[in-house]
Amino acid sequence: MKILFVGDIVGSPGRTMLKEYLPKLKGKYNPHLTIVNGENAAHGKGITAKIFQSFTEQGAQVVTLGNHSWDKKEIFEFIDETPNLIRPANFPEGNPGKGIFFAKVFGKEIAVINLQGRTFLHAIDCPFRAAENLIEQARKRTNIIFVDFHAEATSEKQAMGWYLDGKVTAVVGTHTHVQTADNRILPKGTAYISDVGMTGPYDGILGVEKEAVIKRFLTNLPVRFEVAEGRTVLSAVLVEADDKSGKAVKIDRILINDDHIFFE
Ligand SMILES: [Fe+2]
Repeated sequence: MKILFVGDIVGSPGRTMLKEYLPKLKGKYNPHLTIVNGENAAHGKGITAKIFQSFTEQGAQVVTLGNHSWDKKEIFEFIDETPNLIRPANFPEGNPGKGIFFAKVFGKEIAVINLQGRTFLHAIDCPFRAAENLIEQARKRTNIIFVDFHAEATSEKQAMGWYLDGKVTAVVGTHTHVQTADNRILPKGTAYISDVGMTGPYDGILGVEKEAVIKRFLTNLPVRFEVAEGRTVLSAVLVEADDKSGKAVKIDRILINDDHIFFE
């Protein structure tokens, strides 16, 4: 079983990159399931129904979110009817939507779970305990479980990876927008990477116009963050799992930009 996960799609540059390269990635790697993180897809903050639909039309079967889940108000109108659009499972009770989705691939189910960290982010419910509860549920249906852990601190991401080692197929980090080179299979069979990286502007700062961010650092004055223009990047991982055991056998990084040319 091969699972392709594309990291945080930022604004229209990210959407354009996905549109151009998803068919090529599918052609090259033949993933059985494609998941994308879409929490920054609408001008850097949130997602709209139209954008979600375009992702599914391009071949993403599941879209995950994060701390910007609710930034586009229209999401409240469709998330409850859109089970393959998931938000962090450890958002407190009373939040719409769900944090888990069971995708069907050739008659087999794959559980996709979205969680969010609490270090340097909002104080939400415990992601570790939420993970434990959801995995217990998911295990009754499938042994292939994929976790997108949307978090700021590398330590919290590593802790989640080790905590879930042997319990899930993969723990991939999102949110920090820079692909880390620590992709590995943990000893009990869980694929891990601290951050998949982002899909969108290549010459900005985490996808934002660099001038505004620099001004903020220099002056601490309030500035308006706009999605950067110019060159673009796509960041993803390909996880391969053993169908029977659900254990990962491989996690490869995919990075496409002017410094890392894509070969079909
Ligand atoms: Fe985020």
